[in-house]
Amino acid sequence: MATNDSLAALATHALGFVKAGDVVGLGSGRAAEAFVHALASRVRDGLRIRGVPTSEATERLARELGIDLVGLEAEIALTVDGADEVDGQLNLIKGHGGALVRERIVAAASRRQIILVTADKLVESLGARGPLPVEVLPFAVPLCRRRLEDLGLKPTLRMQDERPFVTDNFNVILDCATGPIEDPPRLEQAIRAIPGVIDTGLFLGTADLVVVADGDVVRELPRKSR
Ligand code: A5P
Repeated sequence: MATNDSLAALATHALGFVKAGDVVGLGSGRAAEAFVHALASRVRDGLRIRGVPTSEATERLARELGIDLVGLEAEIALTVDGADEVDGQLNLIKGHGGALVRERIVAAASRRQIILVTADKLVESLGARGPLPVEVLPFAVPLCRRRLEDLGLKPTLRMQDERPFVTDNFNVILDCATGPIEDPPRLEQAIRAIPGVIDTGLFLGTADLVVVADGDVVRELPRKSR
């Protein structure tokens, strides 16, 4: 479970990967926000870095804390982000916070993606803990819902304050109950083939390193091969 101690331990550990002059991708969610706070405190001590935020929320936080921000024109040395599930191959489910599209774009523009999670997020099979978020163009929701059901998934429109949750990209999210996913690449391909699907929360082969906190004890799970 994410306690303040575990989030702080993850954030402090991740600072070790940042060098002066780096452009750093700033993820979204609690673990990433803990990292943004830790990074900002180094910036106040004189560390010179610039950030690329993965969501409007992270952008606001980074600005408030005094981190200089740039866009994707900069070469991103590393992105530090969270995840909702991590399997033994370091494949991920992301997007429970709704920022998956920009998280994927920033990760793709980065030399390394470093993921911070608490140990409860390690799973044998993706889909075991929670739903798979799928970002969808609002116009396409009825079609996407039917096609996702045809794939055996159970999509639910994500709501917030009794209205559909709207992403930073003005889309909506269908949270899909999947059960343990037997073949993540095949499922990803099938979902992406549905017209109106913008992106899925399956991040396969993107993570270079996963940092896991068990309480305040932290260990690294490196990618075995690319
Ligand atoms: C945001 O869209 C997500 O991908 C987050 O990175 C993920 O949900 C993990 O968030 P927490 O660190 O808050 O658990």
